[in-house]
Amino acid sequence: MAQTFESIMNYPVMDAEGAKKALEEAVKIVKANLPKYTDHFQSSNSFDGFYEATENVEWTTGFWTGVIWLAYEFTGDEAFRKAAEVQVESFHDRILNKIDVNHHDMGFLFSLSCVAAYKLTGNERAKEAALMAADHLASRYREKGQFLQAWGNVGEAKEYRMIIDCLLNLPILYWASEVTGDGHYAQMAENHIKTAMKCILRPDNSTYHTHFIDMETGEPTYGVTHQGNRNGSAWARGQAWGVYGIALSYRYLKDPSYIDLFCRVTDFFVEHLPEDLIPYWDFDFDTGSDEPRDSSAAAIACCGIFEMAKYLEPEKAKKYLDAAYRMMYALDEKCGNKDITKSNGILLHGTYARDSKENTCKNRGVDECNTWGDYFYMEAPVSYTHLRAHETRHDL
Ligand code: GLY
Repeated sequence: MAQTFESIMNYPVMDAEGAKKALEEAVKIVKANLPKYTDHFQSSNSFDGFYEATENVEWTTGFWTGVIWLAYEFTGDEAFRKAAEVQVESFHDRILNKIDVNHHDMGFLFSLSCVAAYKLTGNERAKEAALMAADHLASRYREKGQFLQAWGNVGEAKEYRMIIDCLLNLPILYWASEVTGDGHYAQMAENHIKTAMKCILRPDNSTYHTHFIDMETGEPTYGVTHQGNRNGSAWARGQAWGVYGIALSYRYLKDPSYIDLFCRVTDFFVEHLPEDLIPYWDFDFDTGSDEPRDSSAAAIACCGIFEMAKYLEPEKAKKYLDAAYRMMYALDEKCGNKDITKSNGILLHGTYARDSKENTCKNRGVDECNTWGDYFYMEAPVSYTHLRAHETRHDL
């Protein structure tokens, strides 16, 4: 264990003023980026500090639109709203024409772009797009095993698995049930998280990245990593998806057993942070390692803590919030971009993927910015300072 909840108390905290300043810095960068990335999107990760301009492809473009909506909420500046609305049209087209959507990431893509647009501005096209996305995600639900299949063609034995990241795709299903009155979306989400908790969480409170399910019996078979260092290790971002994913489902389901699950996953995350509180890309690595960091994991975990703290007993909430305030300070100090001439990203020192003997990845976006790191790094202080005009962020 690298940290304890007692040792972390020795670190400086981000206070409300610090959170506001971090947001102001971020908004400056977003504004400067708007001309290049309104008709285009930001690539998943930066290259030597700078994002490329891409079409609306991959699982990550919603983060950039989400960043623009956060900037709009924070400032009320119509320039942000106009740019985000251009992107909402692109998302409508993407789901209508099924462009690069043969995967489960409808929540990442459509909650932050279109559900946010609908909630903030009542945009009906955005609502229509988000409901099409929820239907598409629902089509990946597998009755045998009761889960949402992450990747590949649905129903193929070699693809019959779930991944921990999917917990963040569930809120679009809960939302779809709320707006349509049709409970089947939420039921799928609830069944999925139940299955996930059964197989993904290990006895030491670390998590598998992915887990296969037997197609015939529906029983969980074995866990493997895709982006972690080893099958048995804890990929830092995967653990963070667990922290936030459990909190988001608790918001909708209020199942008391998820409080304990949240505490277990979050305890592991906090207690394995290195000395400077910026996680390495996998918790196999600790203080002094030359391996790269994944700052995005800490930003995601902070957002999860802010969500869950609303429902915890005060003493428990304080324990986790105390850790989040310190992670945020460390992120701002060590990873917050203060020089737009060196990078046009917001949060430095993320890692998209790092190759290892046991995983199936090639190095990608190593020690770079990534769009989800930027997004969650902005969402955390918005949640913290309650500067939002609406409760949009809760839907992720
Ligand atoms: N959801 C994919 C990733 O976190 O890289």
